Amino acid sequence: MNVNYPLRTIFKHDITKITNALLPEDFTSADKRTVRIASDVVVNILDEMGILSAKAQDLQKPITSWDKLRNSDHHVYLLFDRGDGSGGFVMGLLKVGRKNLYVFDLEGECHERDSLCVLDFYIHESVQRTGLGRKLFEHMLEHENIRPERLAIDRPSHKFLLFLQKHYGLSDVVSQSNNFVVFTAFFDKYNRDH
Ligand code: ACO
Repeated sequence: MNVNYPLRTIFKHDITKITNALLPEDFTSADKRTVRIASDVVVNILDEMGILSAKAQDLQKPITSWDKLRNSDHHVYLLFDRGDGSGGFVMGLLKVGRKNLYVFDLEGECHERDSLCVLDFYIHESVQRTGLGRKLFEHMLEHENIRPERLAIDRPSHKFLLFLQKHYGLSDVVSQSNNFVVFTAFFDKYNRDH
């Protein structure tokens, strides 16, 4: 999505984490007006990208909006082309958050796990399949210090399952009764802390 505001003045990096303060995690300004403008830009981006993501997934309601983020401890990673100074383009969104889940392993045993979950993931249609999804996902993995097989995925789309298979070799889904998908390595003991 195009933004008619100089994104470089708000976002210091091409990938930025947005917290429930509705500002970039590394944002600092003593000037109240600047904080207000930055928050307005973030709110607009979250809502518009949330709608685009929902459309791309055929969902009736967006999973991501500023309102939902504000009332949660989840966070959103945004991927930008910050342009040359006069505007910019938002290329992707990745929302993650911790949830307490009951998950079944291959033997049918139920485990209660506080898991980092992928809740929403979207790369703009005009730049899909050019490696940007992987760039954003890798950034999140590093920032959250987690391996992909340790994530629980909320209703993954077919495209996302193919993405996980291609980039991380994840294909052995362990079926769950809820909407989440985990892979067999999710239950590996040596993985538990990562
Ligand atoms: N058809 C089939 N596979 C696809 C497609 C597609 N249209 N798009 C991406 N993939 C998979 C393939 O494995 C592809 O590799 P290939 O091109 O060699 O076949 C790989 O992803 C490409 O990797 P990237 O370029 O890094 O991924 P991309 O930038 O396209 O981002 C994403 C992946 C986020 C799934 C993107 O395609 C997208 O936004 N899709 C629409 C929305 C969506 O389905 N989001 C996930 C919802 S589930 C959730 O959020 C929990």
